[in-house]
Amino acid sequence: MHQKRSQWASNVGFILAAAGSAVGLGNIWKFPGKVGAYGGGAFILCYIIIVALIGFPVMVAELSIGRRTQKNVIGAFRQLDKRFTFVGGIGVLTLFVIMSYYSIVGGWVMKYIWVYASGAHFGAAVNPYQTYFADFIAKPVEPLLWGAAFLLLCIYVVVKGVSSGIERVSKVLMPALFLLLLACVIRAVTLPGAKEGLAFMLTIRPESFNGNTLVGALGQAFFSLSVGMGIMVTYGSYVPKDDHLVKSAVSICALDTMVAILAAFAIIPVVFVTLGAEGLGMGGGFAFMALPEVFAGFPGGKLFGLVFFILLFFAALTSAISILESCVAFISEEFHFSRLKSTIVLSVPMTVLSAGYSLSQSDARGIKLPWLDFSQGFTMLPMNAVMEKFTDNLMIPLGALAFCLFAGWVWGTKNAVEEIESEGRYPMVMKRTWSFIVRFLAPLVIAVILYFTLGRGEG
Ligand code: PFF
Repeated sequence: MHQKRSQWASNVGFILAAAGSAVGLGNIWKFPGKVGAYGGGAFILCYIIIVALIGFPVMVAELSIGRRTQKNVIGAFRQLDKRFTFVGGIGVLTLFVIMSYYSIVGGWVMKYIWVYASGAHFGAAVNPYQTYFADFIAKPVEPLLWGAAFLLLCIYVVVKGVSSGIERVSKVLMPALFLLLLACVIRAVTLPGAKEGLAFMLTIRPESFNGNTLVGALGQAFFSLSVGMGIMVTYGSYVPKDDHLVKSAVSICALDTMVAILAAFAIIPVVFVTLGAEGLGMGGGFAFMALPEVFAGFPGGKLFGLVFFILLFFAALTSAISILESCVAFISEEFHFSRLKSTIVLSVPMTVLSAGYSLSQSDARGIKLPWLDFSQGFTMLPMNAVMEKFTDNLMIPLGALAFCLFAGWVWGTKNAVEEIESEGRYPMVMKRTWSFIVRFLAPLVIAVILYFTLGRGEG
């Protein structure tokens, strides 16, 4: 059965869908947390340089592989060189695991929209916000139901198709997200006392430029730009031959970085006002425990909270859709299943893995898995921690490394440049710089991240 391959209906639609994939939970709560943890302005500066120098060239490489082959991530590598089909396999496996926990976290976000929409009653415990969240994720069934609702929404959009599902939804949600974020920024920077947080973000302290800041910024950049997993191969495969890949990649990276920085402007000043510098933590607890406490501390905070969680929901939904789409494209093209059948075939094992992620945080059953930490040997960790470490610390950098080496040395930058130039010529110096980065600089830098994050067992 030969189906006509889908394409984006417009260049703007493609850019918004790809930016929708990139802009996600990573931008809105991970990034501000990292700015706090790694010393403010220095981290922001390092991050911008790394996105421009490494993230952007790797994204162009991924998009060019996709557009050349017009295939899903595994099919693409197989078509270019059969021996490297496994590189696509690394991508699909990573995406499958990420989707299993992204849908649970997406479900938490939906729950918090519900809580804020119904009056933000967090109870009267000593630490009400912490207790509320801890009690919620400790329940065996409720988080699973919210996670299932989130997954169903993603399935609905993906089954509708590339241009009439994903592109349409992104064209509405992305501008809405931007407006909501601007409203949050305006509220945050006009709060009395916001100056201190702004000064923290905008001051570049030389002592904050160190290896930790650099490794933190590198890891964040790949996750945030959605590179290293084959999403951009899949999304690139729907780009018509006469569209500008490079210009589109510039817009996607710029939008993603702008949203991350705006999110820092929306969050850091309010955290400083209510909790002080120590309030900036990292990880899931930050959005679900520290921020509700922050929102309760100033006038209009409940409305701010509602807007913030709606924003987080839009961001999470468009990212999760891109993950599911990349897996669905693989199943439907390789096994010739319809999109609906492919989605159902995928959702069943995904739900099982999601349940493990959710239940491993519940009181009822602490599911543990072994994890090899080079500095400490084998340890038994909760399943949710293993899933996150497996993707963030191991598979994403490994995927990004494999994609660069493949584009740089196996398929070859000459072929990649030929594909990129199908829409117009670029100056020699740009092509040479890009080839150098993909062949030498990016692999080296990624190998360094892998060494540090695995060697020191950092999350
Ligand atoms: N880039 C998304 C974020 O910043 O939250 C996360 C993400 C999306 C990761 C898609 C992986 C992925 F395949």
